[in-house]
Amino acid sequence: MSASISVTSRVAEAAADAVAEVLRAKPGAVIGFPTGATPLGLYEELAARDLDFSRVTAVALDEYLGTPPDDPRSFSAYLRRHVLGPLGIGRAILLDGTPDSDVVLATRCTAHENAIRAVGGVDLQVVGIGANGHLGFNEPGTPFSSRTRVAALAPETRWANAVAFAPDDVPAASLTQGLATIAKARTILLVATGDAKADAVAAAFDGPVDPSCPASLLQRHPDARAVLDPAAASGLSRRGRGLTDIVENHA
Ligand code: PGA
Repeated sequence: MSASISVTSRVAEAAADAVAEVLRAKPGAVIGFPTGATPLGLYEELAARDLDFSRVTAVALDEYLGTPPDDPRSFSAYLRRHVLGPLGIGRAILLDGTPDSDVVLATRCTAHENAIRAVGGVDLQVVGIGANGHLGFNEPGTPFSSRTRVAALAPETRWANAVAFAPDDVPAASLTQGLATIAKARTILLVATGDAKADAVAAAFDGPVDPSCPASLLQRHPDARAVLDPAAASGLSRRGRGLTDIVENHA
């Protein structure tokens, strides 16, 4: 291992180890993959390893409402580009963000839940965390009992995701797995890097288990792991450090 390896790639390696462990135990695992900047290193690392994802089913965590699957800004496109193609995954349960009536959108959300159930549930759900503590697009205040549904994006989330969109075009809502949907996954792996996530990580693992920090529900999950770099872990107390896996910044 080279001495110049970045913190982020050390995190990517540790997260890839966790994914590989699930795959080894169950070659036909159902794996939920998040989008965003954080997991890109993980996906590169997985693609570089000699792993067989051909029997895996990928599950989408969330999607913008307003970006159809063929829109390059959609999370469906992201998953095809960074996950399904590079890892050779043929089977995917995606969310369609094409705008439609409330009834059609609600049907799509129910179909997502049903499709997850039909494949036996999610074995491993990988998640990032928003700087406000969100999981998927479940913003602060979302009940832990929530299921896949249309959910408004918080202003700070719209701001964080604005870069891909024209200023007047940033999606205001999403389709997202609910917190109860996420919590049903047999294993949850949270990956977070950078000091912009430090407050959210501290609230998630040191704060009360409360919908004001959606990620705090991980404290109650029987098999939730968090892989963090030292910057993302910098707000944690000794207790929070005990609940997480901090990947140090030296080779
Ligand atoms: P990010 O998004 O990886 O782009 O920071 C994480 C999230 O908002 O859940």
